[in-house]
Amino acid sequence: MGDVGEEPLGGGRVTAGVVRVGETVRRPRTERSDFVASLLAHLRARGFDAAPTVLGIDARGRDVLEFIDGRVPPELDGSYSNETLSAAARLIRRYHDATADFAVARTAEVICHNDLSPCNFVFRGGSPVALIDFDVAAPGWRLDDVGYALFLWLNLGTDGPAPPEQARRIRVFCAAYGISADERVVRAVADAVARNLDRLRASGRAGDAEWWQKQLEWITVHRRDLGEALDGDA
Ligand SMILES: Nc1ncnc2c1ncn2[C@@H]1O[C@H](COP(=O)(O)OP(=O)(O)O)[C@@H](O)[C@H]1O
Ligand SMILES: [Mg+2]
Repeated sequence: MGDVGEEPLGGGRVTAGVVRVGETVRRPRTERSDFVASLLAHLRARGFDAAPTVLGIDARGRDVLEFIDGRVPPELDGSYSNETLSAAARLIRRYHDATADFAVARTAEVICHNDLSPCNFVFRGGSPVALIDFDVAAPGWRLDDVGYALFLWLNLGTDGPAPPEQARRIRVFCAAYGISADERVVRAVADAVARNLDRLRASGRAGDAEWWQKQLEWITVHRRDLGEALDGDA
């Protein structure tokens, strides 16, 4: 049983003890907390309002963040519409642009969120309107985030549509982000999946790694189809 007035938010499955209290979210503090708080404050200062405001630390030593109303999808979905994919890509672009002048980003291009799964977006009216869960954010390159986001938002791999349709959706996503949909983007997807696979293996998550391995194989097999289909018209 949780405490009175505390509603468990287990949807993310990674961080234990995330709860809602009124219009706030409480998360156990980690060694990343101070960095995330400064990043979220920077976003605010740049006028980016599609991420939670930091509200401090509660009496139990937990981070207090603004609760953003809406729906956070519990699972991936291979059937997002062009509009939804475009809204996600535009939101990611705005986020990246807002981080580009954050002092810590100077060693790279932007602050990558590093976990741009649909399951870390709040949706309203079927569209992604805010980003949450900045625990693994770090300086990096736009394409690294875009590659990982494409993989998860399009459900590229064994569970999603066939390569020609996925190539079309890659073009939709890239157009909305504002980068050209070319071979570099397909490579970024493969690299992002390979990185996550390494991470899962290193942390002993063999069950999860098995699924990611299958996806990496799918991308490797279809890489040329995807690349060639990207050369066509949108
Ligand atoms: N600021 C927020 N506003 C609304 N819901 C949130 C917020 N932060 C977390 N949640 C909810 O709590 C769940 C877990 O939080 P998250 O930060 O994604 O942790 P995890 O590391 O487990 O993925 C999310 O899936 C979401 O449903
Ligand atoms: Mg999460």
